[in-house]
Amino acid sequence: PEIDKNPAPGADPLSALRRTKVSIVGAGAVGSTMAYALLMRGVARDVTLFDIDKAKVEAEALDLAHGIQFMKQAEIVGSDDVQAIAGSDVVLVTAGAKQKPGQSRLELAESTTNLTKKILPQLLDVCPDATYVMVTNPVDVVTYAAVKISGLPASRIFGSGTVLDSSRLRYLVSQHTGIAVQNVHAYMVGEHGDSEIPLWSSATIGGAPLLEWDGLDANGPLSDEARAAIAYEVVNSAYRIIAGKGATNYAVAAAGSRIVEALLQDQHAVLPVSSLLHGYYGIDDVCLSVPAVVGKAGVSRHIELPLSAAELRGLQNSADRLRSVVRTLGF
Ligand code: 2OP
Repeated sequence: PEIDKNPAPGADPLSALRRTKVSIVGAGAVGSTMAYALLMRGVARDVTLFDIDKAKVEAEALDLAHGIQFMKQAEIVGSDDVQAIAGSDVVLVTAGAKQKPGQSRLELAESTTNLTKKILPQLLDVCPDATYVMVTNPVDVVTYAAVKISGLPASRIFGSGTVLDSSRLRYLVSQHTGIAVQNVHAYMVGEHGDSEIPLWSSATIGGAPLLEWDGLDANGPLSDEARAAIAYEVVNSAYRIIAGKGATNYAVAAAGSRIVEALLQDQHAVLPVSSLLHGYYGIDDVCLSVPAVVGKAGVSRHIELPLSAAELRGLQNSADRLRSVVRTLGF
């Protein structure tokens, strides 16, 4: 934490430590698990859950608080009063309709953008200086709406994007090759949803180009078929999880807390979050995920990876699809 160099005279020295505060809007499966992940990783000193369901949000916070002994020291508050989020460094927005089994993320666009129109101004009233991370689906559409509604600099309001999908991709490559997932570098880009694409051409395993992986392992090289199967699995795994247990929550929460860590610790970490693009490979005025640098200032830049012709077409297709959805919603 940062030390307050000018504490008020007579102030308690401990209170001179600037406490980091993260608020989570929505205490459903994603929001509550996000709080759990933040606490387990010791990312923030204060974690606040805000939800209109008072009984639910208080119960989630109480359950989380009972585990603090086994985590880093933290304060967890659950409230149905929006004022509870005051002073947050980061606000994570998870509130919204749940995908039903078989339903696509884009089918939620109208209801969740309407909800964003309603709640975001209230959050901004209480927390005008926070960085906002949108998690609600369809996250790229909700993020675009949020940028427009908030009037905040686009660097300070972005979406969790394909951080999760990229981690699914890396996991599957790791399973295929037997190499640790942390040593696989590969991105899913575009929509956090059906039109997303893997960037195989720039992917590496332990620094070696993935496309030239020697395949000396049991599963062989990452052939066209193997890569197609992995990409299919990444795009469709949320459907499988939702069919089996009604929602996804653990991995998205881990990804969300990773993003918050990059923000609070000013890491300048490269994460494929969803943010407003202007002139990225000619793509304009749409929110989608590409590798971005994330630190205290939010998204400070986008990294232009070399793209194959097919990857560029895939990314443009994803951008066109998202732009047409936001247009139909009147943005
Ligand atoms: C996920 O990808 C459903 O967007 C959610 O897990």
